[in-house]
Amino acid sequence: MRVLGDLDEQGGDGLGTEKIPNTGSTRNPIFCQGKGRNVYSERRVQREEESGLTTEAEGKKRSRVVSGMRPTGRLHIGHYFGALENWVRLQNDPAYECFYFIADWHALTSDYADTSGIAQNTMEIMTDYLAAGLDPARSVIFQQSLVPEHAELHLLLSMVTPLSWLERVPTYKEALEQVKNRDLHNYGFLGYPCLQTADIVIYSAPAEAGKERAQLYVPVGEDQVSHVELSREIVRRFNGTLFTVRPEIVDYLIGRGAAQPEKYPAELRLILEDVSKVRKQGADASKDVRSTSAAPAIRQFIQESGLVNFLDAIPGANSFLDMPDPLVEPQVMLTNTPRIPGLDGRKMSKSYGNAITLSETDEEIRKKTKVMVTDPARKRRTDPGNPDVCPVYDWHRLFSPGEPGRLEWVRQGCTTAGIGCIECKSAMADNLIKWIAPKREQRIKWENDPKGVLEIIDDGSKRARLEAKKTIGRVREAVFGWEKKRKELASWA
Ligand code: TRP
Ligand code: SF4
Repeated sequence: MRVLGDLDEQGGDGLGTEKIPNTGSTRNPIFCQGKGRNVYSERRVQREEESGLTTEAEGKKRSRVVSGMRPTGRLHIGHYFGALENWVRLQNDPAYECFYFIADWHALTSDYADTSGIAQNTMEIMTDYLAAGLDPARSVIFQQSLVPEHAELHLLLSMVTPLSWLERVPTYKEALEQVKNRDLHNYGFLGYPCLQTADIVIYSAPAEAGKERAQLYVPVGEDQVSHVELSREIVRRFNGTLFTVRPEIVDYLIGRGAAQPEKYPAELRLILEDVSKVRKQGADASKDVRSTSAAPAIRQFIQESGLVNFLDAIPGANSFLDMPDPLVEPQVMLTNTPRIPGLDGRKMSKSYGNAITLSETDEEIRKKTKVMVTDPARKRRTDPGNPDVCPVYDWHRLFSPGEPGRLEWVRQGCTTAGIGCIECKSAMADNLIKWIAPKREQRIKWENDPKGVLEIIDDGSKRARLEAKKTIGRVREAVFGWEKKRKELASWA
């Protein structure tokens, strides 16, 4: 029921932030099933502590950060502490260039049957983004479907993504089992992680000569690590299909293998022997055979044995390979998000009615917090309580640190039955109201200026699109080579 409720609110995919409880393993072995690839799939996790202080070294580009949320309605304080607070911090750190979006296509993966609310919900989320402190002058804030390059990249990535990788995503299987009120047996829902991968890696920075390539981070909680891992695997596989082999590799391999041909695998030896045979027939034939048959055969051999394995086994071979690597493998940026349970102690979720939105009035806040769940063992005013199992205390820890002595007052008073839950809640509500007031004020300001909000969406989407176009240009060329082909044809008299 718990999972179901979460999925309900979030639109049913279970791939968003903290929707389904962590299923245990953070390193999903299914994502590294490519031939002999396991060794290379080690997790590269960037801790914020390390990255937060990154100074811009000479010639080093700013790292990029990408994240998004589905437009499911107004955001609540759970969303704020689960993601937005961190997004704002990253945006204000000069080490990062941030791209934050509203994933309206993702809303369709589960809600295709009723799309009527998506446009308004997109406006709501944008309004909440602005209220929470996202700043279009510091971040690129945009709407996914206004950047169609996400979809084009999704299509290309879908070609290399094995069905088994998608089918085995733990949250996918869970959602299929749990969600009964909506039809999830469709292609779009299965491909959700692939679209999510496109969303991220469409903002891959280009490789620039002499410069370190900018990293690409996705700020997520521990339960989302496996999705970013899957993105890495998809990108690795995609980049891995795009290399070309220069014919000169043939002579290099023959030269290296001359001393100990038995060191080469049988397939490779056969290819090289064929070249030697042709060579014996005359120089012209041998020059040709490298590019017409040997190089393509070697390329196929490399693909079958795994590019990384091949390069490990044959040092120096990489200088005969052209690897455009148009996409960057994204990395997880683990964020420690504070625990903020809902009013009833369960996970905060709109569908449970246990949330406080960023636009809640003082009266609503007071009314809702008055009936908030406390330490269930504290039945009477005279019973001592335990703040560590009390949701009210969790909230105090978020909203009360600015008030000297308040947290001590709670702990001391609660454990000795010196204070009652009513006064404890009321003190918490005071601080929550103080905390929310400026955000709510911003929210109201933007609510009254929907045209301004729309302008920010449109403007941000244009900026995002400029970057996305650069990436898709590189990807198209790496896949089809049309620029090269056109040049060839232009010189064709
Ligand atoms: N799955 C996220 C959610 O449900 C939205 C999302 C789509 C996303 N693509 C993404 C998040 C890429 C981070 C990166 O809210
Ligand atoms: Fe919770 Fe405060 Fe009551 Fe203790 S006194 S149980 S912390 S509400």
